Amino acid sequence: MTLSVLSVASEVFPLVKTGGLADVAGALPRALAPHGVDVTTLLPAYPGVRAKFGKLKSRHHWPDLLGTDAHLLETKLGDQRLLLLDAPALFGREGGPYIDANGRDWADNWRRFAALGKAAADVALGQVKGLSFDLLHAHDWQAALAPVYVRYAPGDAPKPSTVVTIHNIAFQGQFAASHFKALGLPAAAWSVDGVEYYGDLGFLKGGLASADAITTVSPTYAQEILRPEYGMGLEGLIAHRRGALHGILNGIDTAQWNPATDAALAMPFSRTALAKRKANKRALEKAFGLARGDGPLFVVISRLSWQKGMDMLIDSIDALVGMGARLALLGSGDAALEGAFRVAEARHKGRVAIQSRYDEPLSHLCQGGGDAIIIPSRFEPCGLTQLYGLAYACVPVVARTGGLHDTVINANAAALEAGVATGVKFDLAGADALIAALHQAVALYADRPTWRMLQRNGMAADFSWSTSGAAYAALYRGLCTRA
Ligand code: ADP
Ligand code: GLC
Repeated sequence: MTLSVLSVASEVFPLVKTGGLADVAGALPRALAPHGVDVTTLLPAYPGVRAKFGKLKSRHHWPDLLGTDAHLLETKLGDQRLLLLDAPALFGREGGPYIDANGRDWADNWRRFAALGKAAADVALGQVKGLSFDLLHAHDWQAALAPVYVRYAPGDAPKPSTVVTIHNIAFQGQFAASHFKALGLPAAAWSVDGVEYYGDLGFLKGGLASADAITTVSPTYAQEILRPEYGMGLEGLIAHRRGALHGILNGIDTAQWNPATDAALAMPFSRTALAKRKANKRALEKAFGLARGDGPLFVVISRLSWQKGMDMLIDSIDALVGMGARLALLGSGDAALEGAFRVAEARHKGRVAIQSRYDEPLSHLCQGGGDAIIIPSRFEPCGLTQLYGLAYACVPVVARTGGLHDTVINANAAALEAGVATGVKFDLAGADALIAALHQAVALYADRPTWRMLQRNGMAADFSWSTSGAAYAALYRGLCTRA
């Protein structure tokens, strides 16, 4: 039997992307199709998204969706159905999905994403003619009220099963309690078992308390968020719901990320033709204005944030250059971090360079031309850039946390001896630990046969969605047959 699933997310590649959530929300539906799961995606109709489609017909009209006029538009993304929540008062503005041009959160984010949750619940509950769903899958806090609305929907009609996926527990959607009354939820929802969160309104909290199942994006992160250092206030609730918690590793979209066919590369390559990567290294040096050279070229592709350990990377740059290595950094975010990278760039002209913008094709060239990718995250629910690195023979140098821990095999003596290592993994105890890992990577790079082995092992590993697609499908089926 085909299962019909409504997936709700605030970003979906290739329509709108600020991070890995978009990649996952874009790729998972296709990965589920071979497992008899038919996914419809619901996304806000931001202007940039709306512009990608012509005139669309309205499937449904809400004259008053949490105080605003809204339409549900229907189109397709590839072979799959895409629904757009067109509420101009909430989403029809220039800027990012969550922040304005000055980097400040939109003041009405609570209303914008409560409306997304309410609309998703209405659709999943069958209130739009011709659409019916067995299960609703909500991604992150922006969609997390959807299962809350489903749970508290009046009436005895059968309800869809619900799943919430935590992509990053640091972002919880915590707002002033005073907004509760505008949500249209019954008074019973204001409770420790509902959306009340330390006296505030908690979107993710409500979703985690209400969904039939909770998933997160790696097995290690599923364990980590049971602890206060990682759970960020939600560890108690998650421990309480431990029986419903699943860690399912993200996959990568091998149609987008295939070095043999990637149009963003100067020279496509494969596992048996790694020498071709050199042309990409030259193109990368050129794109970043770095001096030409055959020494190790590290890359970083990242949001510039505390989570990503970028402050520790800044403290490691002099040592990195001292090892004869170079650094190309593609990233944007925190202005102070960007400023510090600029200072390092000026100090090490030709050896350190930063491009502070979002540039999808350049991110592919970094993976295809860089020798190693540095990911010194303080926590990392899954991480996708190490997976792209593995697929592109850009050896990952990663902190031992979350999905980084689950996907990289450290080049310790035993793994080298057994011929299974794929990267360098270190305990992030500050810049010194990162510097030690960089030293190790530079030494491995100098040992050409060993380096080639790391590259080839990474490329041989399967991080496609096939295993994880099957895991999600099995979870969905389990929930739907139990219901
Ligand atoms: P997170 O979602 O926490 O930022 P992930 O590793 O899961 O981390 O995903 C980040 C995604 O965003 C990857 O697809 C990565 O290639 C991409 N990315 C990050 N910064 C940039 C940038 N400046 N330009 C292009 N792509 C970027
Ligand atoms: C989040 C996490 C990242 C994960 C991504 C997709 O942004 O920070 O680790 O890979 O979501 O699940």
